[in-house]
Order: sequence, then C-alpha cells, then structure tokens
Amino acid sequence: MSLEQAPWSHPGYGLVFAYVQQRAGLQLPTCIPAAEEGIARAMARTGLEDLRLYQSLLASDPSVFDALLNELTIGETYFFRTHEHFDFLRHQALPELRRMRGPEHAMRVWSAGCSSGEEPYSLAVLLMEEGYGHRMEVHATDISRAALAHAQQAHYSAWSLRSTGAERMRPFLRQEDKRYVLAPEVRQRVRFQYLNLALDTWPSPESGIGGMDIIFCRNVLIYFTRDTIAAVARRLYESLADGGFLITGPSDPSLSGFAPLEPLLTGWGVAWQRLAPGVRPAPAAPPSFASLPPLPPLPVAPAPVRFPTPPPLPVLPPPVLSPPTAPPPAPVPPRPPDRLEPARQAMERGDWQDAAQLARAQADGPESAEVAIRALANVNPEAAAAACAEAASRFPLAAGLRYLEAVLLLGLGRLAEAERAARQVVYLEPRLAVAHLTLGHVLRRRNDTAGAARAFRSAEELCAALPPDTAVPLSEGERAGSLARVAHDERLRLELMMTTPEER
Ligand SMILES: C[S@@+](CC[C@H](N)C(=O)[O-])C[C@H]1O[C@@H](n2cnc3c(N)ncnc32)[C@H](O)[C@@H]1O
Repeated sequence: MSLEQAPWSHPGYGLVFAYVQQRAGLQLPTCIPAAEEGIARAMARTGLEDLRLYQSLLASDPSVFDALLNELTIGETYFFRTHEHFDFLRHQALPELRRMRGPEHAMRVWSAGCSSGEEPYSLAVLLMEEGYGHRMEVHATDISRAALAHAQQAHYSAWSLRSTGAERMRPFLRQEDKRYVLAPEVRQRVRFQYLNLALDTWPSPESGIGGMDIIFCRNVLIYFTRDTIAAVARRLYESLADGGFLITGPSDPSLSGFAPLEPLLTGWGVAWQRLAPGVRPAPAAPPSFASLPPLPPLPVAPAPVRFPTPPPLPVLPPPVLSPPTAPPPAPVPPRPPDRLEPARQAMERGDWQDAAQLARAQADGPESAEVAIRALANVNPEAAAAACAEAASRFPLAAGLRYLEAVLLLGLGRLAEAERAARQVVYLEPRLAVAHLTLGHVLRRRNDTAGAARAFRSAEELCAALPPDTAVPLSEGERAGSLARVAHDERLRLELMMTTPEER
C-alpha cells in the first residue's frame, strides 16, 4: 500500500507521515488508524489543531519531530536483551577480534538505535567482564533526543531489568526508592550522540562512526522502508572495520543482497561479518543451541485460578477432489504430531506446573511460549506477565503473545503497561477484534472514555464483518455475533456517559 492509497481519514495525516518517511525512513504501518492516533496525540501536545500548521512546525522544531517519532516507533529496550547476542560476542566475536587485532586493541563498539541506553550499557558491562578495562570505545546513537537524555541520566526502573541476563547489571546499579541508578564507571564508558540512520551523514570522521569492531543495530531496521534498509545496510557495512561483526534483531529484515556482508549461521539466527579482502569465510560451525531463558521458578500452587486453555489449532478442511482429467494430486504429507499436545492435556487436567514444564521443554517458538505462560498464569500471574514480556520481545511479531501480555497486565491492574501492550497488538494485527476489545477495557479503566468507546467501536465493526457463528481468533471460542453485541453494549454505555442529560 502506498502513502497515497492509504485510507487516511484526512489527507493531512498522509502529508505528515510522508514527511516522517522522507526524514527518518519509516515505512507505512499496517494500521493506519493507530498511526493517525499517534500523530493526533503528538499534535495535541503542541496545542495545534491544523495538520498543515503542525507539519511546518515539525520541520522547524526538532523536539516536535522527536515527540512524533516517539509515537510512531516503540523505544522498548532492556538490559542484556536477547542474551544470545551477548553470548555470541563473549564466545565467538571477541576472541576472534582479539586474535586478529592483538591484546592491546581498544574495541570500537556501536549501538545504533540505542533508545534509553540499556543496550550500550550492557555492551560496556560485557566488555568490562571480559577484561577490556578502558580499552573500549562504546558509541551509542539514536534519533530520539528524549531517549538520549534518559540514557545519559541513566536512571532505570525494574522494567529495564526484566531479562534473566540483566542480573549482570546488579553490581553496577544502586537502588534509590524504586529507581536504579547506574554507576559512573559504566556511564562514563559510553558516548551518546544524536544520529539519524536514514541520512547519509555517516560513516564519517565528523560523526565518529567508522572502523567499528562490533555494531548492534537491533530492532530498528524493522521500521524502515525497503530503500532505507538497503541504504542503511550498505552504510553499516562501510562503518565496520575488516573482520568486524554486525548483529541485528531477531525480527529485523535480512541484509542479504544489500551489502557484501558474510552471514554467519548461529544457533539463534544470523550474525553478519565484514570479511577482510581475500579472506574466505570459515566453514560454518555447528550451531550451538541457544538455551531458552529459564522461566521464573514455579511456586507450589495453593488454589489456582483457571486461566483458559488456548483454542485448539484449526482443523484442516478435507481436501477437494480433483476433476478426473486433472493430474493425480501430490500425496498429502502426514500432519506432523502436535508437540504441544501433552502440555495442552496437562492444562486441561489443571496440572499447571506440568503444563508449563512440558511447554517450556518445547519452547522454541511463540506458540509453545504461550502455552507455558498460560499455565504459569494460573499459579503466578506476576511471573507469567514477566515471562510473557520476555517471550514477546524474542518474538516481537507474535501478536498472540502481546495479546496475552495485555490481558495479564490488565488482570494485574498494571494499566499503563497493559495499554502499551494492547496498542502493540492493534499495531501488529489491526483486524484482531479481541485486541481492540482489550484496549477498550484498559482505556475505560484509565478513564479515557472517548478512547475506550473508539476501541469498542472497532471491535464491534470487526466482529460484525464476520459471519455471526464464526469463532473470533484468540477469543477462546467466542462467536463473532455475541462478541459484537458485547462491544456494542460497552460502547453505548460509554457514549451515554459522554453525553449531557439535555443531549439525551
Ligand atoms: C525498539 S528501539 C531499539 C532499542 C535497542 N536497539 C534494542 O534492541 O533494545 C528502536 C529505536 O530506534 C530508534 N530509531 C527509529 N528510527 C531511527 C532513525 N531513523 N535513526 C536512528 N534511530 C532511529 C528509535 O528512536 C528507538 O529508540
């Protein structure tokens, strides 16, 4: 879908987004209403009501542009996120670089798209642990000045410590009330600066970017148009020293074909290396199977609250017979056994601990993580929410996991986080009715009556567009007709609250 074809409710939104695309390389999101809401929220903060005036302010005031980007991208990050990447540095990249460059070499590392700083600080701590002392230069850049200011202040909440690997930060964090303050010995090792990856101002001596040994550019390319990805990939390649490594995020697009980088197959995915001219790639090592970060320990359940079993996998319809003249159909391969069946059976028995353990043993994908988390939710909802956030960050495109996270957080009354998770599901799967329904419930509890009414209206419209007897995806078997009525009633109640007695 092109910018012009997108179903904008007002052409001004299209113009604003076109400006963002041209300046920051962002691709059009699949959910146009969510993008419009983001633009509307950022515009409301400027006090302007005219989209054209707002567009000219965007061009003249960097903080206004920043605020808009913050609405259109998700700055989510935390310490030692995707620990497999840090394990790869420790076991493979750093030893190889040390062999190539000698023991006195000061490692040049860059976190491109560093958000609030957890990534570059994790890199600094890893290098300290590996004995690099002061022989390191850690650069960290982002387009969001607000994120950079947060990074430089280096005060974090427990949410930034939610991954299992984050324990490694503890020796460098001092707790003050509910905040964690990072030790100066780590802070001073990282140099933060503004850099827009979409512009060709780098690599260059002025930007300080170039000759890098290690680049982390994770969970950023995912936002870019294809042309921007191609240009950024080329510049990332040019920013690496020979032999240097580039790590991208688990759901970032492949860089293959965009730059002459050597893909290195690992147990967790692909890392990239700039080979020195004439160097042949080493034969691929057998992948070291990444261990799944352990879920928090399961407590003994006193009286578990039943959390619904995930809906069964859809049953395939019987094959349609070919007409007699058609060539014989290819044999249908046998359906692979459902490896999660034992975990599902344990869920049905109410044996949550067994279910979580069985699913965890198979946890190499979002579906098995979901089963494990649902089981865990019955004994320890807080632990389940934490495990869900961790799994959702490993499978950021799995709408089911984000939805589960939103539901868990709503149940725990953590409404701001629940809203963020629900909005992410809407962004990922704009046609998922239950996501709008959950967002409606969250917003109503946050006293955002108008927002809640809008969310219920979307849920109602999506359900009404389905045949009434269809099971709504992710709804535990609810039928479209009855969910449409639920959403309708919720919306009416809220709209009634918003009208004055005279209007009624
Ligand atoms: C999801 S965060 C990634 C943080 C960290 N790399 C990680 O994986 O945990 C994405 C970051 O990319 C930044 N970003 C988006 N567009 C950018 C651009 N054109 N140039 C530089 N940074 C950009 C956002 O401001 C945001 O902080």
